[in-house]
Amino acid sequence: MRLDRFIAETTGMSRKEATKVLQRDTVTVDGIAQKKTSFQVPEGAHVIWNDMQLELAGPTYLMMHKPLDCVCANHDSRHRTVFTYIDVPNIKALHTVGRLDLDTTGLLLITDDGQWSHRITSPKQQCLKIYHAWVSEPLTEENISAFAAGLELTGEDKPTAPALLEILNEREALVHVHEGRYHQVRRMFAAIGNNVEKLHREQVGSLRLDADLAPGECRVLTAEEIALF
Ligand code: URA
Repeated sequence: MRLDRFIAETTGMSRKEATKVLQRDTVTVDGIAQKKTSFQVPEGAHVIWNDMQLELAGPTYLMMHKPLDCVCANHDSRHRTVFTYIDVPNIKALHTVGRLDLDTTGLLLITDDGQWSHRITSPKQQCLKIYHAWVSEPLTEENISAFAAGLELTGEDKPTAPALLEILNEREALVHVHEGRYHQVRRMFAAIGNNVEKLHREQVGSLRLDADLAPGECRVLTAEEIALF
């Protein structure tokens, strides 16, 4: 990796600022002072700036309690993005693991590790997602069978895979799905003539949303949580 990029990535400064640091200060790589922005930093090299060792961080894995009214995108001209709630140096490298709608809250995973997120979102993996849905019309026993049998979604040829509808009360249910189609849960309820008024994701795989996280807060995943996927 080029030295200017190395400095930028390890400190959170821009490449332009990193170039100024190289011109102005002493930066050593394995004990030898370097001034060139294009100098290639060997893997495992000791880079020192102002008596401070600069170390590349490993991949980032975050769990967020996604609040209402923000989108799962890196940029959006109309809405806040989930990244406005995050303060880490490598923010530009991060992506959301799948998406939640503007008006869906709950568990959202964020990372810069593409292989890890692929293991969660790839249709082949059939990763479990559990949503808490609040609906406008009373839920019935027939709805449970309809979700289990698979539902025809408007504009799609293939019915949904079997899903578990766990009725909590007349207008609240947990929905367990193993797919990630566009607006899937809202469209599943629409297919049975119901309407989702509020939607919250509680779980992805066996990872549950941390109850200590308020909407808009996030925390780093533990090694055990990362290893779940
Ligand atoms: N299904 C939906 O309809 N919306 C979401 O945000 C997630 C799943």
